[in-house]
Amino acid sequence: MTGNNRPPYATLNGRMVPFDEARVSIMAPGLTFSVLAFEGLRGYWNADAGELYVFRVAEHMARLDFSNSVVEIDGAPDERALTAQMIDLVRACDMREDCYIRIQAYVDDWGEMTATGPASSSIVCRSRARAPAFTSGVHFCVSSWRRNEDDASPPRIKASANYLNSRLAGLEARRNGFNAAVILNRDGTVSEGPGGCIFVMREGEWITSPVTAGILESVTRRTLIEIAGDAGPPVIQRAIGRTELYIAEEAFYCGTGQEIVPILSIDRKPVGDGAPGAATRRLQAHYDAVVRGRVAEYGHWLTPVWKDRH
Ligand SMILES: Cc1ncc(COP(=O)(O)O)c(C=O)c1O
Repeated sequence: MTGNNRPPYATLNGRMVPFDEARVSIMAPGLTFSVLAFEGLRGYWNADAGELYVFRVAEHMARLDFSNSVVEIDGAPDERALTAQMIDLVRACDMREDCYIRIQAYVDDWGEMTATGPASSSIVCRSRARAPAFTSGVHFCVSSWRRNEDDASPPRIKASANYLNSRLAGLEARRNGFNAAVILNRDGTVSEGPGGCIFVMREGEWITSPVTAGILESVTRRTLIEIAGDAGPPVIQRAIGRTELYIAEEAFYCGTGQEIVPILSIDRKPVGDGAPGAATRRLQAHYDAVVRGRVAEYGHWLTPVWKDRH
């Protein structure tokens, strides 16, 4: 099972069902008004240990709780229930390779824009290998679309409604021959990319936009802030001006799905010498060791799937 292949099962409202039987109502507010919060987690296979580790489950579940509370999806399952369901599903899919898990909570059935229930939940797990861009890098532009603001459609929550903004930026970037886009705030400083955060290196220091810059409070970003000092310079959180993108020595894009992707150019201006940077490479290697359970210090971030169940 690779790429977009459908998994054999999904979990719908706590019950595992054949994937094609996991359905929603066509009048569900989750669909008609995007009343949907979600999380994306990664599972990492460690062949030596014969184990699959799901990365930072507690942090993802806490963010889902926060998103549910802001969107007001009442009665979604709690962290304990969702974690147990997720592990059961991953085992049922016999996942022994890198994978991506999507957990959703949404208002189902038929309702108005302000409906807060009935809540449904679903979980899907499918194999997802590391993207080739992890090695080869990507080309970015600066989007003509501005980031949705915290007082309009808050990017801090992982709600599907926010992804219209990401989609518009992503489509424009692709149409113009780029892989993705940096999206600026109204004040002209960097928020993030369509589905990940931006880090740049200036004068040997990593810089990333603060959590007040119209970003999702990314688990990967937080992880890198915590571990960067082990493999190079630590991370400074401050506003990034547009032209700083053009004089950065290195830059990368990060998130659970894409992990850490070197940015080779922005608006066709090469970042550094136009190749993945050395510090980015060191951070990628350290991140990989951490997520696969090879750094004991960070073992508490990993939830083993097969432990006691081989
Ligand atoms: C808009 C946006 N920003 C940032 C991220 C990265 O967040 P995380 O590291 O928690 O996956 C994502 C991930 O999906 C995202 O969609």
